[in-house]
Amino acid sequence: MPEGSALHPQASDCLVQVSDPHFGTERPELVEALVRRVRHLEPAAVVLSGDITQRATAAQFAAAARFAQRLAPTPVLAIPGNHDIPLYAVHERLFSPYRRYAQAFGPVADRLWSQGIWHVALLNTTRWWRHKHGEVSRGQVDRVVQWLQSAAPRAVKVVVTHQPLTLVTPRDGHNRLRGAEPALQAWHTAGADLLLGGHIHLPSIACVRPEPTPLWAVQAGTAVSSRVRGQAPNGVTEFRAFCEADLNGVSRRHCGVRFWNWDGRDLAAGPWSRLALGEGR
Ligand SMILES: [Fe+2]
Repeated sequence: MPEGSALHPQASDCLVQVSDPHFGTERPELVEALVRRVRHLEPAAVVLSGDITQRATAAQFAAAARFAQRLAPTPVLAIPGNHDIPLYAVHERLFSPYRRYAQAFGPVADRLWSQGIWHVALLNTTRWWRHKHGEVSRGQVDRVVQWLQSAAPRAVKVVVTHQPLTLVTPRDGHNRLRGAEPALQAWHTAGADLLLGGHIHLPSIACVRPEPTPLWAVQAGTAVSSRVRGQAPNGVTEFRAFCEADLNGVSRRHCGVRFWNWDGRDLAAGPWSRLALGEGR
């Protein structure tokens, strides 16, 4: 069991997802609003789900690292997106695609972060030989299954990928993670509750597998970039997980999700969505 995974009977906690900031195209007023919001929410962690930079330059990674440092002491759990591998610096892309990323955010590796009620698997789904599309390997699927099975009974189990595992709009189908279908099947069976993704800059919440226990996919928009998609606003996502034991000792779990959207002056809270999760096992 990972360190720091003790659960309380009434545990509730906050996680914030920041996705696709594309530093290099960031809007400074949005960065300031985001820092203020995270400090106010005091989440257990910020999930930074890729496309951290626009073109993976040293200057863009330095700006992104400064942003992450301003959130301290909140840990920032980062994974790369396709934009975080140099595109035009061909030698770099071939031989050290994550060098600049690693200088800012540490080595690129799939990892498990577990604290309180949260049990979060973060995967690198970028590949230097792919331009935009990502993929999940058989080894990654199996690793996440093991991590999910190691979770405490009442933990809320989250898998984070940059490219989405599932999509609510059919026209985005080409953006789906390669290998998504067997991954979905395996992770649902292993008890995953939430799938967090970015990449398409279109926030959404969907129940993608209702039975026997619900599996939810939550897509984030772009946090601070001017590269918004259509009418989809800039914003970040707040998660609040709850676990309550009834008199028979059965744990009822759910997760509140709301988007904080840029309204032209500040990040404004949207309505809560209440996602029912399976009973704690
Ligand atoms: Fe992306």
